[in-house]
Amino acid sequence: MAETFNPTPQHIGIIMDGNGRWAAQRALPRSAGHREGAKAVQRTIEAAEKMGIKYLTMYAFSTENWSRPPEEIDTLMNLLEKTLDEYQKSAHKKDLRILISGEREHLRADILAKMDALVAETAQNKGLSVNLALNYGARQEIAHAVNRLLAQGVKTVTPQDISLNLYQPEMPDPELIIRTSGEERLSNFLLWQAAYSEFYFTPVLWPDFNEEELQKAVENYRTRKRRFGAI
Ligand code: FPP
Repeated sequence: MAETFNPTPQHIGIIMDGNGRWAAQRALPRSAGHREGAKAVQRTIEAAEKMGIKYLTMYAFSTENWSRPPEEIDTLMNLLEKTLDEYQKSAHKKDLRILISGEREHLRADILAKMDALVAETAQNKGLSVNLALNYGARQEIAHAVNRLLAQGVKTVTPQDISLNLYQPEMPDPELIIRTSGEERLSNFLLWQAAYSEFYFTPVLWPDFNEEELQKAVENYRTRKRRFGAI
């Protein structure tokens, strides 16, 4: 057994990738891959709760995803709506706190209303915080933080000022970022918060991700020597 240096991470970020390839391997439409991907979202949330993780940020829709075909955007938005409806019923029972990070523009008004209601209703829950990165781009998030500071009349900004004006200022930076499907890049996800994150890339396609895969990623993270620039 490898030596471990770190406790279980408090915050994990996940870039959920490979729904399309999962479907193509089965000669199914891309929408079938996204549907299975939504099931993997539920499994992963349950697994994270069990493992005592406090924050999970999941990249559900990037600001660049609007360039996909309209039918695919509809599928993703409908799945999101269904997920919000399910959490409307179950989040309290599971003590989940739902947070949403991203820009509001272009999102459907009914989805925005459901998001706002769910965030408000679960704000006091004390279990796992599930942060859905939705219509999210990290450069936009940093620009949003700087614009908020400018509106307060500041002349210069410190790194701490930016951290305190991100979408979720109270959330610790993710110790671990996972990306599925064998791609090894950040794709505009948590650029600011990832300054000292450990990365875990797996060839597993997102619809196949499960508790065992999450455990593997965490076990691997626990063996990393984190130095934060020191020696
Ligand atoms: C990547 O697969 C996945 C996404 C576009 C975002 C993640 C979406 C889900 C997991 C589905 C539903 C989510 C929620 C929160 C309800 P891809 O289409 O880029 O796959 P590919 O690279 O193989 O084509």
